[in-house]
Amino acid sequence: MKQAPISSDAIIRCDSVSKTYIMGEQKVHALRDVSVAFAAGEMTAIMGPSGSGKSTLMNLIGALDVPTSGDLYIQGRNLAKLDVDELADLRNETIGFVFQQFNLLGRATALTNVKLPLRYSRKLDEDIDARAVECLQLVGLGDRMGHRPMQLSGGQQQRVAIARALAGRPSIILADEPTGALDTQTSGEIMDLLVNLGQQGITVILVTHEAEVAAYAQRQIHFRDGVIEREIRTEP
Ligand SMILES: Nc1ncnc2c1ncn2[C@@H]1O[C@H](COP(=O)(O)OP(=O)(O)O)[C@@H](O)[C@H]1O
Ligand SMILES: [Mg+2]
Repeated sequence: MKQAPISSDAIIRCDSVSKTYIMGEQKVHALRDVSVAFAAGEMTAIMGPSGSGKSTLMNLIGALDVPTSGDLYIQGRNLAKLDVDELADLRNETIGFVFQQFNLLGRATALTNVKLPLRYSRKLDEDIDARAVECLQLVGLGDRMGHRPMQLSGGQQQRVAIARALAGRPSIILADEPTGALDTQTSGEIMDLLVNLGQQGITVILVTHEAEVAAYAQRQIHFRDGVIEREIRTEP
């Protein structure tokens, strides 16, 4: 398939990215020669059947894994050119992650969970506290800061996870099936929150199976067998 030219002002750019997993004798071609760019502040939904390469793409963009071939650029920086420390800084300062299963520490309060990613920052303790409180207020949990995950609903737990993702003031939020464990109404509330972050200039990329969830995004990219099958843009 001929792919559209990639604009250079993109905050994220994938150039002919492939990812092959080697499983013993077997090779799994999770992504095949994918070129795609994401504009700053735009919300994109990544869709496609299970096994089509969605999470693989998210992991590569989040610098959690490296491609087999091709190049990834975040804010113009080629990830292949960064050393381990620079990649860790990029993940901490530029990218916030949100997962289907929330991935909160069960024994820790909402406040402690949100403070976690700031623990290695050079910020003062009181500034870390203030930022965590601010993020919890932003997601509407100002009155639940002392609650542990078990004492919160699924939607509230995902809000804590979003607050944690926001703590480091990221330019990019990567959310892999953020509503996958939530009911329809709660999913809508979480999507409203993500749309709101997009309106504040954060680039949101989310993976979803659900058309109603994807409809919140300005752009939908459908994957199949490791390639982009089609793309839909919602006119504003
Ligand atoms: N760590 C891994 N090792 C081997 N194969 C993997 C690994 N992660 C994913 N895969 C395989 O790569 C393909 C794409 O997986 P994934 O990106 O997780 O798909 P999706 O998120 O769209 O369900 C699948 O066939 C999957 O089994
Ligand atoms: Mg997946």
